[in-house]
Amino acid sequence: MRDHSIRDFWPLDPAITYLNHGGFGVTPREVAAVQADFRARIEANPMRFMMGEYPAAVRASAAALAAFLGAKAEDIVFTENATSGLNAVLRSLDFAPGDEIVVPTLAYGAMMKAARYVASRTGAKIVTPEIPLPLPSHQAAIDAVTAAFSPRTKLVLIDHIVSPTGFGLPVRAIADAAHAAGAQVLIDGAHAPGHIPLVMAETGGDWYVGNLHKWLFVPRACGFLWAGGAARHLIHPLAISHGYEQGLTAEFDWTGTHDPTPILCVPAAIAFHEKLGGAALMQRNAVLLREALDRVAAAFQTPLGAAPALFASMGTVGLPQRFGATDAEAAALRRTLSDAHRIEAVISAQKGQLWLRLAAQAYNEIADYERLIAVLRTL
Ligand SMILES: Cc1ncc(COP(=O)(O)O)c(C=O)c1O
Repeated sequence: MRDHSIRDFWPLDPAITYLNHGGFGVTPREVAAVQADFRARIEANPMRFMMGEYPAAVRASAAALAAFLGAKAEDIVFTENATSGLNAVLRSLDFAPGDEIVVPTLAYGAMMKAARYVASRTGAKIVTPEIPLPLPSHQAAIDAVTAAFSPRTKLVLIDHIVSPTGFGLPVRAIADAAHAAGAQVLIDGAHAPGHIPLVMAETGGDWYVGNLHKWLFVPRACGFLWAGGAARHLIHPLAISHGYEQGLTAEFDWTGTHDPTPILCVPAAIAFHEKLGGAALMQRNAVLLREALDRVAAAFQTPLGAAPALFASMGTVGLPQRFGATDAEAAALRRTLSDAHRIEAVISAQKGQLWLRLAAQAYNEIADYERLIAVLRTL
C-alpha cells in the first residue's frame, strides 16, 4: 500500500505536515467509527450498558491489552491518561521526611511537579540526577541515575522514552539497581505502547504507566497502569469510589461515571496497529525517523540528541544557533512553523540550543521531513 493511501486512514487535514504523533496521537477513522458505535449503543440504554455490559467490557479490553503487553489482565487497569496513573502511584505511597524520590532531569515537566507536590506534603526530597544531552549510550544514563541512589532513596521515577528528546532509557538496568538499593520503581511509559515492543515484567518496574492515545491509536483519553508484583496492593486511583477495598481492578474499573468509549476501543485499536504491521510498523517508523534525523543533521550540521540506536520512532536533532537558544525562541519557531507553514513539530530549548523533536508514524513519509528542511532553510 502506498503511503498516500495509508494517510487516508486518518482524518488529518491534508494541508498539514504532522510530525508530532508523539505529542498528540491521531485516532484512525476506523477506530473512531468503533467509538461512535459504542456511543450509540450506550445512549440507546445507558443504564443497561453502564451497569450490565460495562464491567465485563472493561475487563475484555484489559485482557486484549494484557495480551499485547505480555501481561496478565488482572494486573492491568485503565486510567484517563499517563498523568492520572502516575499521580495515582505517587500519591498512594507513604513518604517520610528525608525520604528521597529520584526524578532525573528531562522527566516530563508535569511529572516533576507531581513529585514536587508529594514531596512538599510529606517532607520527602526530590533528587534530580542529570541525564546527559546528547546521550552517548545507555550506560551513561545508568551511571548518571544510579549515582544518585542513597540509603534514603525510596522511589525512582524513570521515563521509558524521554519526552523532550525521544531517546529511550534502559529502564530494566536502572530498576534492578534501584531494587538492589532498596527503592521501588515507577516507570513512565507515556510514549511506549505501540512505539516499541513491550513485555511488562521485563521492564523491571513495580508499576508501569503508559498512554494508549499516543502510539497505540486508542481515542483520547486513555492510559493504563500495570502493577504485576507485590506492590500492586499499595496503590489506589486518584478518585476513591465504589470499588474501594475490593482490590486493584475493582478500584480502578470504576472511579465515577466517565466516558468508557476510549477503553472499549482498545481491542479495535490493537487490531488496527496489527493490521498496519504491528512490530513491522514500529520498525518501519523507526527507520523513517532515523533517515529524517540524519537528513536534518546533515542539512544544518547539527548533532543528534543521542546515539542513533537510542531512538525508535521519535527523536531530536539540534538546530543551528541562528534560531536562538531560549524557551521563547523555541516557542516562536514552533508557532511560525505551525501558523505560516502548517508544519507541526516540537521545538525545545535545552543546554543553550534549540532542539527539533520529530516523530514518524505510518502516515509520514520522507517528503514530510524534506519539506520541513526546505522551510527551515528559508527562515
Ligand atoms: C514522558 C511523559 N509522561 C507523561 C506524559 C503525560 O501524558 P498525558 O498528558 O497523556 O497524561 C507525557 C505526555 O506527553 C510524557 O511525554
